[in-house]
Amino acid sequence: MIVLGIETSCDETAAAVVKLAGGKLTVLSQVVASQAKLHAKFGGVVPEVAARKQVEAMIPVLAEAKINPKKIDAIAVTKGPGLVTSLGVGVETAKALSIAWQKPLIPVNHVLAHLYSVWPSNPSLVKNEKKFLPAMGLIVSGGHTELLIIYSHNKYKLIGRTIDDAAGEALDKSARLLDLPYPGGAALEKLALKSKANKIIFPKPLSNTNSFDFSFSGLKTAIRYEIEKNPAIGQRRFDVAAAVQASVTEFLCRRLTQALKKFKVKSIMIGGGVTANNYLRQNLQNIAYEHKLPLLLPQHEWTGDNAVMIATLGLMQFNTTSKTEAKKYLTAWKNLVAEPNWELK
Ligand code: KG4
Ligand code: ZN
Repeated sequence: MIVLGIETSCDETAAAVVKLAGGKLTVLSQVVASQAKLHAKFGGVVPEVAARKQVEAMIPVLAEAKINPKKIDAIAVTKGPGLVTSLGVGVETAKALSIAWQKPLIPVNHVLAHLYSVWPSNPSLVKNEKKFLPAMGLIVSGGHTELLIIYSHNKYKLIGRTIDDAAGEALDKSARLLDLPYPGGAALEKLALKSKANKIIFPKPLSNTNSFDFSFSGLKTAIRYEIEKNPAIGQRRFDVAAAVQASVTEFLCRRLTQALKKFKVKSIMIGGGVTANNYLRQNLQNIAYEHKLPLLLPQHEWTGDNAVMIATLGLMQFNTTSKTEAKKYLTAWKNLVAEPNWELK
């Protein structure tokens, strides 16, 4: 089975073709056109600018992905969540292609799809998925922080989410306070590497609740006080960066540990832009080791927004759906609209 994936939820225009044959997932082609540099000068993504650039990039990206319509079995597209104007570009393009090529159209949830970057990254998982499911899934991106249990490709349960800022958003806001350009997560990690002391400790939010929810909005205020008290210059700037990274990691790890104690799972799957962070990856590895569970991480190139994850989730869902449901995908273009606030449940 071969599936084309299209992703336009924010400021990346991406297309990828993924093949599943003989228990092996192969990425046949993948293209990502990023607008990151353009938005950096505004200090964040400007929705109108993003959507216009999505329109400009869509056809060149599809052309570069070298799609052979005769060979593909279905098209998967990000339906939401994301910026409504950006999502619309991908959704309408996918609808037009579904009609022109007479191919089933599979609407995919972007947040859940982040966990599907781990599938092409870990060949043993595809061959032997029963050994790894149910899995505890942790998604940490610029827009989302969610903890869920994955039972199958069509069945999952959300157990926790952020009640305010996402982890990546908190890192980006903290990075801005340290005069780093947007998005600042990766630059903050580099600064943190230069820290030699672990003297600054930020408060631990929601530490006396039993819920699996996260809260990151207090971090920004804590840093502001810390910097006002004592300016973040020289070595102290590195120490503040390290403290921010440690604080976000501690919270993510605390909730993951709590969830692993309560729910019986066979593996841990991680996804989202923030999982490019090596300090976080190392700490997650320690938790997996303590709980004697395999940790499935995405390859670095698939931590951020990409279409490989969209094609993979679409493929897995299409491949395991009933014949009646599969038929419905052929006419899905009739009712499909972007869903900017599509929440996992
Ligand atoms: O998944 P993603 O590309 O986009 C969303 O769907 O939101 O995530 C982007 C987020 C940004 O907040 C960015 O600062 C963060 O991922 N990020 C990192 C690193 N690389 C990207 N955060 C920490 N360390 C990194 N190395
Ligand atoms: Zn994303």
